[in-house]
Amino acid sequence: MVSQSCAGWLYFVRSLRDAGGLSMDTIARALTIAGSDSGGGAGIQADLKTFTALGVYGASAITALTAQNTLGVQGVFSIPADFVEEQIAAVLDDIGADAAKTGMLANNEIIRAVARALESRSFENLVVDPVMVSKSGHPLLEQEARNALKQHLLPLALVVTPNLFEAEQLAGFAVRGLEDMKAAARLIRGMGPRYVVIKGGHLPGKATDILFDGETFWALTRDRVHSRNTHGTGCTFSAAITAFLARGLSVAEAVKKAKEFVTTAIAHSLDIGRGCGPTNHMAWNNDGEATLS
Ligand SMILES: Nc1ncnc2c1ncn2[C@@H]1O[C@H](COP(=O)(O)OP(=O)(O)OP(=O)(O)O)[C@@H](O)[C@H]1O
Ligand SMILES: [Mg+2]
Repeated sequence: MVSQSCAGWLYFVRSLRDAGGLSMDTIARALTIAGSDSGGGAGIQADLKTFTALGVYGASAITALTAQNTLGVQGVFSIPADFVEEQIAAVLDDIGADAAKTGMLANNEIIRAVARALESRSFENLVVDPVMVSKSGHPLLEQEARNALKQHLLPLALVVTPNLFEAEQLAGFAVRGLEDMKAAARLIRGMGPRYVVIKGGHLPGKATDILFDGETFWALTRDRVHSRNTHGTGCTFSAAITAFLARGLSVAEAVKKAKEFVTTAIAHSLDIGRGCGPTNHMAWNNDGEATLS
């Protein structure tokens, strides 16, 4: 039964749509499966802000709550795996998603539950950000869950986006420069994802990421922004890739546009809090220009 207030809302939304104010039938939808960052700069919050900034309707399945701010992670409370699966089912079986991403998955059980939920629905446009440790050094994935990530989730991924540390953990050797990044990308692609993006945000010098599709390597290079406000760069980047995929871009185009989005967000980052502040998800308009100076 539809409640009165719900019916009123539906009437309001339909009138707006009929008047040309909303394109409900065509809006792209994206789902993030990740942890909550109470500080709002990373995790679910960064993902939903990014989806919104890119004109995509965002839904979420929360894997863990973190008590977190710009100074670090003070606490982690993981959600029971069955309930993570229930959230994914609730979103996908009603609203649907044109693309989805995973971020912090916390443990083995959650990884398996997420993989089960996506595999049983033959979900295709999946971006896996293999989050292992927060920027401040706090573990966000149990050590023994790294194998589950490789075994259960990477084979389902269209795109995987490890940073240097995660690339090392997945590949099993040190990744210190562009040649190592290429070698790691080859090896990680062998684990199942169709595209591998290795992020060079932690390299000295320019911010160069590598994209590999199994045949060709692309290097995406932007000048490093000298700012300590880089909290949530990785989440923002993978969320932007997801949003552009949801909008129908090819993987190569989505990754290139996402690189522009995250670079703009870092260049206009916010001096909020006493530590590493967040990037600015609003410093973008959909013509691809920074909106703030
Ligand atoms: N200071 C910077 N200036 C410009 N680009 C940057 C900078 N730091 C990171 N990037 C870019 O931001 C994106 C995210 O990369 P990064 O290596 O920071 O991910 P991450 O380590 O997963 O981040 P997080 O700690 O938020 O999880 C990449 O495209 C990277 O090149
Ligand atoms: Mg990261």
